[in-house]
Amino acid sequence: MIVCHCNVILRAEVEDAARQILAADPGASLEPQSIYRAIQKRGRCCSCFPSVARIVSELLTQAMNEVDGAAILSASPLKSLVPKDG
Ligand code: FES
Repeated sequence: MIVCHCNVILRAEVEDAARQILAADPGASLEPQSIYRAIQKRGRCCSCFPSVARIVSELLTQAMNEVDGAAILSASPLKSLVPKDG
């Protein structure tokens, strides 16, 4: 699916760029400008930026859903706040 018609950027390219950015720096910005910089493109009309932001959000949501919540909690400093039976 083409996300950006000005640059002919596919959804898969946006997702790959987001994964590469996060692999290099988990705290990196995933704003559309950052995604496009990684793809070595520039926004022209920028009407695709909301779609790029949505795709990144969906990708992050999917990743969070795939993570084992118990594993996160056991590593969290907040675990002491969770009741032992909960
Ligand atoms: S549609 Fe992406 S820059 Fe115009």
